[in-house]
Amino acid sequence: MIVSQSSHSCSLGNLGRRPGRSEQTTVSSRGQLATSQFFLRRKSRAARNSTVASSSASEVLSQIADGALAIPSSAFGAIGALGLIGAALFVADPEKRRSAQTSTAGGDEKEAVKGYFNTVGFERWNKIYGTTDEISSVQMDIREGHAVTVDKVLNWLAQEGGVKGVSVCDAGCGTGSLSIPLALQGAKVYGSDISEAMANEAARRYEAEAKAGSTAETPKFEAKDLESISGTFHTVCCIDVLIHYPPERMAEMVGHLASLAEQRLILSFAPSTPYYEVLKRIGEFFPKGSKATRAYLHREEDVEAALAKAGYRVAKREMTASKFYFSRLFEAVPAS
Ligand SMILES: C[S@@+](CC[C@H](N)C(=O)[O-])C[C@H]1O[C@@H](n2cnc3c(N)ncnc32)[C@H](O)[C@@H]1O
Repeated sequence: MIVSQSSHSCSLGNLGRRPGRSEQTTVSSRGQLATSQFFLRRKSRAARNSTVASSSASEVLSQIADGALAIPSSAFGAIGALGLIGAALFVADPEKRRSAQTSTAGGDEKEAVKGYFNTVGFERWNKIYGTTDEISSVQMDIREGHAVTVDKVLNWLAQEGGVKGVSVCDAGCGTGSLSIPLALQGAKVYGSDISEAMANEAARRYEAEAKAGSTAETPKFEAKDLESISGTFHTVCCIDVLIHYPPERMAEMVGHLASLAEQRLILSFAPSTPYYEVLKRIGEFFPKGSKATRAYLHREEDVEAALAKAGYRVAKREMTASKFYFSRLFEAVPAS
């Protein structure tokens, strides 16, 4: 069901509104998505049925750094939006924070990401992607937004004939939010993640989810970075991972993922628009060091160009945006 088809422009007057692109958004609902029982058992609530919420600038900011940056709302009242945006654009340089993080990992950015998702990042995201109520409202919003994205993927796959017997690679599988329902629906799932803690948690969750006597094939989960995945799969999914890839490495990674896919490549990323870039810079103005991760936005046309170079075209697209979470979702298929 189409719930919104709108176009907004970004201005100070609507900073908390949607990004300025025409787009359609499909509602996920309990009735429509019988396939996503895994998530329906969770305590995700309103955002599962609503991909867009009007929000204040301060609320949107923290999502870009995967929800890690908390902006004191009082700061906005005190400083004023215009002054803050100006200051953020010129003073808050995201490269400073990235460099600081990377230097603690011996200058290797990928090692920094790996270290984060094996330690403090694991603690944080294991809770966000879990069922505990002991999370902040920001984290709950991200949980719910992410669940909407996952449901959209499951819905697409269900509409396209289901996944029974289909080989699926879930690249950067996290705690198994997508891998597990796919496996329970009969897919042959390979899930890998740069973080051993994440991959192990995905395996643990699958065991907990799979019912005794289930005929589902147990997914193979392993700790491996995207670059090291080999083989071919009918479908390759890479959800909310490209945020960890700088633009200059994005095309190479998309090309690699496409080389693994035979029929379908589903990927999501945080889109780079003037709107989100401004908010990102403001977010950089209020870093919370121990929680923050690097975050890269990607221009949609760049991702499409990378897909085209790899012989793929975008067949379906979606956008999920809530107060703290936004994610552009593409399904790409071979161009010829
Ligand atoms: C925001 S989480 C998304 C997890 C999962 N795709 C989902 O949607 O539930 C990002 C994941 O990407 C993983 N990741 C980051 N860089 C990676 C890389 N180079 N190779 C493999 N996994 C990576 C992180 O460890 C983390 O689990």
